[in-house]
Amino acid sequence: MQHSARKLSTIITGDSQALTDSFAEDVDKGLSASPKYLPCVYFYDYHGSLLFEEICRLPEYYLTRAEAEILRTFAHEIISYMHPESSLVELGSGSCTKTQYIIDEMLKERDGIIYSPIDVSREMLKQSARSLLERYDNLKIISVAAEYEEGLSHIDTHTDEPKFILWLGSSIGNFEFSKAMNFLKGILRSLRPEDLILIGFDLEKDKGILEGAYNDSQGVTARFNMNLLARINRDLRAEFDLDRFNHHAIYNEAEHRIEMYLVSTCKQEVPIADLNRSYSFDKDEKIHTENSHKYSPEAIAALATEVGLSTVGQWSDSMEYFNLTLFRKRRR
Ligand code: AVJ
Repeated sequence: MQHSARKLSTIITGDSQALTDSFAEDVDKGLSASPKYLPCVYFYDYHGSLLFEEICRLPEYYLTRAEAEILRTFAHEIISYMHPESSLVELGSGSCTKTQYIIDEMLKERDGIIYSPIDVSREMLKQSARSLLERYDNLKIISVAAEYEEGLSHIDTHTDEPKFILWLGSSIGNFEFSKAMNFLKGILRSLRPEDLILIGFDLEKDKGILEGAYNDSQGVTARFNMNLLARINRDLRAEFDLDRFNHHAIYNEAEHRIEMYLVSTCKQEVPIADLNRSYSFDKDEKIHTENSHKYSPEAIAALATEVGLSTVGQWSDSMEYFNLTLFRKRRR
């Protein structure tokens, strides 16, 4: 293979007009509902993706550091289960910082890797690919700007190699347990016996630590949450006054999840020009913007059983705050 052919980065686009239309539709649907909600996937425009990177560096946000510790310590062992010709696929790749632990280990054993990051921020995909290509000269990157399902369907038509799928950061926590099950069942249908999926789970722990991670003292998480309204202002010509909403995050013990809200500080009407209407908010009315489910080891095992996955290996950090589990399709 020629060097120039190896150093390749392509962006496969989803239909960007369709993405814009679904944003408008979803905002209208969520703000018309009772109680109001907004889908958390819309946090991640470029600005939101950068705010999330900032969250990952916060002292209170232990998730990223715990997961990086696991990868730093066990990447070699994790990689040992991988088929030698696997291509690497990543769901919600963001800045690809943690991916590098895996890539470093893979490159100790082989000459080149095909890496397919899937992310909703095209800008983030470009930036991450650029910095990975600066660092490695034996990487072929096929980036997919899309949501998970659509992204994965692209990957299936573009690669013949066995797959090693990364789904890190406890992004799975955004799904309700039943949705996580159905999503994984969908992935499973396209998996082959030699394919593997590595999933990051945030573990249940002391409520104070959990709530601290989503109520940081520098207010970065609040800005991240509030960016959703700023994005609606930018993209749909809305008139949200950010001073009239507050960030609110609590741990719901019965549901095993952090819930994030934007709370209206007064009774107000907010026009959204692109939707040709206004939305009214009562004082203290909440918009539900995110769920972040926390897992127990038993819940991870139950998920695997239900979906039809076998556990290949399981790793934790020294504090036992976070869990990485490697799964394959169950043989029957
Ligand atoms: C990217 C979904 C894993 O739930 O912890 C961080 C997003 N929200 N702070 C999480 C998030 C508020 C994050 N995930």
